[in-house]
Amino acid sequence: MKNSIIQIKEVKKSYKDIEVLKGVDFEVEQGEIFALLGSNGSGKTTMIRIMTTLLKADAGRIVINGFDIVKNSRNIRGSISLTGQFAAIDEILTGRENLQMIAKLRHLKNPDEVANALINRFGMSEAAGRRVSTYSGGMKRRIDIAMSLVGNPKIIFLDEPTTGLDPEARLEVWKIVKDLSAAGTTVF
Ligand SMILES: Nc1ncnc2c1ncn2[C@@H]1O[C@H](COP(=O)(O)OP(=O)(O)OP(=O)(O)O)[C@@H](O)[C@H]1O
Ligand SMILES: [Mg+2]
Repeated sequence: MKNSIIQIKEVKKSYKDIEVLKGVDFEVEQGEIFALLGSNGSGKTTMIRIMTTLLKADAGRIVINGFDIVKNSRNIRGSISLTGQFAAIDEILTGRENLQMIAKLRHLKNPDEVANALINRFGMSEAAGRRVSTYSGGMKRRIDIAMSLVGNPKIIFLDEPTTGLDPEARLEVWKIVKDLSAAGTTVF
């Protein structure tokens, strides 16, 4: 195998007797934007949950950022972030507080600065002090993606990041993804 940042070989997964992943192979290079396509129910979220250590594969070999998922899932978790298919933000907190919370959970030394930098980068200065429950769907998605960038993870997993966004917000997300890739971050 090459030294790809994501190496997937013969991965299988069944839920009871439904075989969802039947031997999946692919590799992703560092800094690449990799899109996994498939119809509803084809197993995309399942594959992402496996690669982000939330779910165990039944068979196959998975190496992420040089770490074998069976032996080193903890190290993998330290080098990735996951933005799920549905926004996972604390609606009671403000946008800024959500970012600060993730920075603290990631044990960063300067959570306030990290939060402010992302708020500026995502053009959310006006909304940052408001509770997320008052945000529109696009704004929630934006803060959700901003949260996944806290701590500069090497690989970012986004599960359908633009679903439900209007065309403008969609373009914005693609731009964020391209900028991340240009800076060397791998975006799945
Ligand atoms: N926890 C579970 N228990 C049983 N079956 C499941 C479970 N999670 C997913 N499945 C089934 O596995 C298949 C793949 O689901 P998955 O969510 O990975 O698909 P997907 O490609 O992400 O679909 P979508 O485009 O709708 O998000 C589906 O048939 C689904 O019903
Ligand atoms: Mg899905």
